[in-house]
Order: sequence, then structure tokens, then C-alpha cells
Amino acid sequence: MCGIFAYLNYLTPKKRLEILELLVNGLKRLEYRGYDSAGIAVDSSDETAIALIKQCGKVAVLEEAIKHVAEKLNFDALLETHCGIAHTRWATHGVPNEINSHPQRSDEHNSFVVVHNGIVTNYKEVKTFLEQKGFRFESETDTEIIAKLIYHFYQKHPNFSFRELVENVVQQLEGAFALCFKSKYFPGECVATRRGSPLLVGIKTKTRLATDHVPILYGKDEPPISPKEHRPHGRNEYPTLPRTGSTSEFEPLEDKQVEYFFASDASAIIEHTNRVIYFEDDDVAAVRNGVLSIHRVRRGGDDPNTREITTLKMELQQIMKGNYDYFMQKEIFEQPESVVNTMRGRVNFETGTVTLGGIKEHIPEIKRCRRLMLIGCGTSYHSAIATRQLLEELTELPVMVELASDFLDRTTPVFRDDVCFFISQSGETADTLMALRYCKQRGALIVGITNTVGSSICRESHCGVHINAGPEIGVASTKAYTSQFISLVMFALVMSEDRLSLRKRREKIIEGLRNLQEQIRIVLKLDQKVNALAEELYNKKSLLIMGRGFNFATCLEGALKVKELTYMHSEGIMAGELKHGPLALIDNTMPVMMIVMRDPVYTKCMNALQQVKSRDGDPILICEEGDAETIAFASRHLEIPKTVDCLQGILTVIPLQLLSFHIAVKRNCNVDCPRNLAKSVTVE
Ligand code: G6P
Repeated sequence: MCGIFAYLNYLTPKKRLEILELLVNGLKRLEYRGYDSAGIAVDSSDETAIALIKQCGKVAVLEEAIKHVAEKLNFDALLETHCGIAHTRWATHGVPNEINSHPQRSDEHNSFVVVHNGIVTNYKEVKTFLEQKGFRFESETDTEIIAKLIYHFYQKHPNFSFRELVENVVQQLEGAFALCFKSKYFPGECVATRRGSPLLVGIKTKTRLATDHVPILYGKDEPPISPKEHRPHGRNEYPTLPRTGSTSEFEPLEDKQVEYFFASDASAIIEHTNRVIYFEDDDVAAVRNGVLSIHRVRRGGDDPNTREITTLKMELQQIMKGNYDYFMQKEIFEQPESVVNTMRGRVNFETGTVTLGGIKEHIPEIKRCRRLMLIGCGTSYHSAIATRQLLEELTELPVMVELASDFLDRTTPVFRDDVCFFISQSGETADTLMALRYCKQRGALIVGITNTVGSSICRESHCGVHINAGPEIGVASTKAYTSQFISLVMFALVMSEDRLSLRKRREKIIEGLRNLQEQIRIVLKLDQKVNALAEELYNKKSLLIMGRGFNFATCLEGALKVKELTYMHSEGIMAGELKHGPLALIDNTMPVMMIVMRDPVYTKCMNALQQVKSRDGDPILICEEGDAETIAFASRHLEIPKTVDCLQGILTVIPLQLLSFHIAVKRNCNVDCPRNLAKSVTVE
């Protein structure tokens, strides 16, 4: 998915080469999101012009291209104040190529350039309007209209500030976007805004900021003007600005050295600063004379006066690969710790109680609800399937599990007394977010289950649970799945805390949670054995994964991992459905894996195993440690420690995560960024 990174240094001299390296590095941190081309805009040697460098392919290709413009760009020039913007593009309108890459520009002199995440849905209408005004378009993107529209406004209102121009532009746009603008008419300034796509700014100063808040200016309010206004190139025609009461508490960082890092996610910023502001929809943030101010066109009743600068807890090493060759591999092996982090401060193993601070106040309301709806996409959806049975058992409420896209297609009836859970690692998945808004409009209680603090789903939920799995970089989700699973189990435990009849069951589950870390370590020791199975399977065409009951979700999730990572066909099959179709696929050449645990559906699973074997199938079993009787039925098997039935899926999924990883490596696939996929799918 597209990534934005912009860097503005104010009174902080940097060589042009340093700035370029910083921008490229920012893009590298965003690579994990998936993209197909990249581009950068900086001031050129003639400081009244903007240089654009764009390439199809990886950031490394862009880096090479930058080296080739060394002479033209004068790498050693010291720039005291400068704004550079950069982008990784994941094609939505127009094929991946240099012209369609961002930054997109207003005209051949690059007067205004813009980088964009998201989709402008009314771009055709705006394009027609601009064509009538004489603009000629060069790309197939929706983004180009933004660059041209701002130029159009500039020509019409030459006295407008950069921020006012952007405000005028976004009022004309429909759809979802995060935008960063740069202009040769406003050197050393940057304006950024968002609606529906995430955007944040990191602030780095030599001395600690006087305040933890940045004022929000409404309507025509303007930030106070510094008496020693710094105009780096003397070309910035400042209009006379009215001063209004609401800006009186504003303390600008006058003449102080400051650096700003705009990005679509924190991983690009964290190595520079941990002081960030997450922008809200329709915020227009402008940096002018080194001062950041946030503007909103209109003020609503309970709109705040300021935006808080928050301190990110994430550390750079958390997003680096450590000793592993791939992020995904690292994330699989982090699960003994990540599951504990999910439970930390929530499950009290001594008293056998569970507290979820983020939804505590809403529990009485949830207990009175008509039904629970769990909504998500991909792996997050599977975590809902994995826990549905336990939720039904411990809450005795009807539980609907929905794929966000299908839920929206059906315009499903939702009522005020429904409780809707939105499960999303990134907290930004467009379909999930849209389903959230749909349910919110209908008055349901919205509960977010996310891994990304400050994400859109977090902010738009009434309450929620942060799964605290730590940053997940590999496109294929692994540790987020097990943490989502545990979060939903904890919720089921909270809902049943005063049910005497369930006391024993709850105790067993809590005991199971206590042992998970150690048991996951044991499962991870199967790595070499799984690698050997991958050797046998990696050149096959297909892999069927069968199971039922508490382990059905593992089949779906395992098959999704195999598909995503290895491009091999794989299907998760409900063992109860064998006779209704899948049995026709079975012969002595079809690779099959079966999950057979000693749980309430054991006999039924054994039945399925017999059916497969009697059609010459030779399934690889995932079964319980020491279960000799079951093991005797298969030529190959993986033994997994036993836990309580409803948690078993956390342990059975891990060998399949490892298997998909090893097959992908053997097939020379890009483990962390599978083709055609993106980590954060912020378009429908
Ligand atoms: C993409 C990712 C998947 C993920 C899904 C939902 O398809 O590649 O790994 O499961 O989105 O993402 P979310 O962030 O909402 O969990």
C-alpha cells in the first residue's frame, strides 16, 4: 500500500545529499507496506525550482537514479531550511510506471507537487473541469488532479497562503486521502492533510518543547506571525493575516531549530523522534517559518482546542529484523513474548481474574446486548472464527462472524443493541473501517481490537482492546493472529466472570493461558521438522488442510498463509464437509494435512482421517504430544503440546505459519512482501 514520507528541516542546515538519504531511508521503512514504484521531490540547485526523481520498482532503484543526478543537484549544497517529500506507490489508477509515480506535479515547472495515499473518487469530474481551464494531464492517476487543482487556485488567488490553497483543494475532493504538498512558491513550507488515510507528524527539537499540545485553529484563524519572520528565499509573499483570540496561548518555536517528519506510519519516524501528533480527518497541518499549526475549516460543538503531542513507545529495534533473515520469521518466533504482552496487566493468574481496561466501563452494556458481531478481513477474520465457539459458550449470546466486505455488500441489518467488534491488525483496513462506520451510524456499540495505537479504527471505536503484539512488518500476519485470538478469549472470560456454573471452565482456560508461553516455545522447536516437510511439499501444486471444531480456523489461516506466501494453491477444509465435495480431490498424489486433537470432535476427525486414507490419501497429522494411537494412522506427523480445547488453535497454527514460511523460502518467494499483496489495505 502507498507510503508517504516528508522531511522539513528549519534552521537546521543539512547537505542536499543528507536530505535525499533521509528521504530514501524513510521510504525504506515503509517498504513493508507493499508498493510498486517510488519518487522524491526536493529543491533543485536553482532554488526556485523543484527536482522530481521517480522510478518504477523498488526504492533501491530510486536510490540508484538519485546517484545519476548528482551533478545537476549539487549534493554538497547546505540547505538551512528545506522541505522534501517522498512516496511509495501501490498502483490503483494507472499501471506502475515513472509518470504515474508520485510526487505528481501541477505543470512542467513543478510549481506544486503532491504525494497521495488513498483514492479520489470524483477525480474524473475535477479533471474535466481542469481540462476546460486548459490543463493538460500526463499521468493516468487520480492524484494528478490534486496538483493541478492547487495550481489553479494559486493562479486565481495569488495572495492565499499555502495552507489556504490546500484547504480549498480538499474541499473539492471526495474519497480517501492523506496528502503532503510542496511548492516552489512556498519554499521551506509543507502542508499536509488527511481524510480516511492515516498521517502523522514527528517533531524533533534540540530542547524540549514548551508544550505537549499544538493549537487547532478554526475557520479563518491564523497562527501569530513571528516578528523575525524567516523567509529563506524571499519569495514567500505573506498575506496580512488577522490575529484572533483563540491563538493567544500559542507559543511558536520562533527561530528555533526544528525538524518535522510527516509519514503515513510511525515506523518511518521512530528513528528520528518519538514525539508525534496523529492527525484527524480534515486536519490541515502547515509548517511555515518552522511553526506547525493545525487548521480545521469548521468548529463542531465539542471539538478540542489542541492536538496532543504523544510519545511513541515503539523502539527502532522492534521494527528491525534482529537475528532473523525475514521479518515474518522473526514475528513467528516472537510469539512466546507477544502472547504474554497481550495478557500483561489483564490476566491475573493468582486471583484467576481478567480485566480489560479499555472496555471495562462498557461491560454491563455489552452483557445486555442482543448479539455480538465480529467483523474483519483476512487473518483478522480468522481470529473471529477461531473464538466464536468460546464466545457463544461463555456469553450465551448469538455471535455473528463477518467478512467486512461481504457484510457491507449485504447491507446487513444492525441495531442499537448490537455490539460490533472490529478486528484489525493495522486498524486501517478500508473495508473494516467502512463496516465500523456503517454500524456506528446505526447506533451499535463499537469495540476495536487492533494492534496499532492511534489508528483510524482505534480512534473511531467507542472502546476497545489493544492487542499489544508489537509492530508486525511481514505482510502475512502471524503474531497479530495469536494475539487477536487471546484478546477475544480474554473478552469471553470477562463476560463470564460472575457465572458460577462456568467457574471450572474459566479456571481451566486461565491455567491454559498461563502455560501458553512455554508451550509455544515447544511448538517452535518443531522448526527443523517442519522444514523437512516443506522440502517434501515445496514443488507440489496444492495443499489441503483439514480439521473441524476449535481447529477449523487454523485450517483457514494455515491455507491463507500458504497461498499468500508461496503462491501455491491451498484450501482450508471443514472436515465435516468432506463428503460434500473435497473427497473428490483425494488420491495418492494430493498433499493433505489434518489436525486431529483429543477434543470433543476427535472421533469425527478420526472418521475424516479414515475417509481420506481409504481414498489412497496419506495425510500429515498435526496431533497431540504422545498420542501414539492417533500417530499410528499416519506416515508423518507433528506433535503439539496439549492445552484446553478452546486455546489449542493458538498452538496448531504455528506449525502452519512455519510451513508456509519454509515453502516460500524454498520457492524463492518474497517472504515479507508477497507479490500483489499489501500489509495495510486502505482501499476497498
Ligand atoms: C491484508 C494483509 C493481511 C491481513 C488483512 C487484514 O490482506 O495482507 O495479512 O490479515 O489485510 O488486515 P488488518 O490490518 O485489518 O488485520
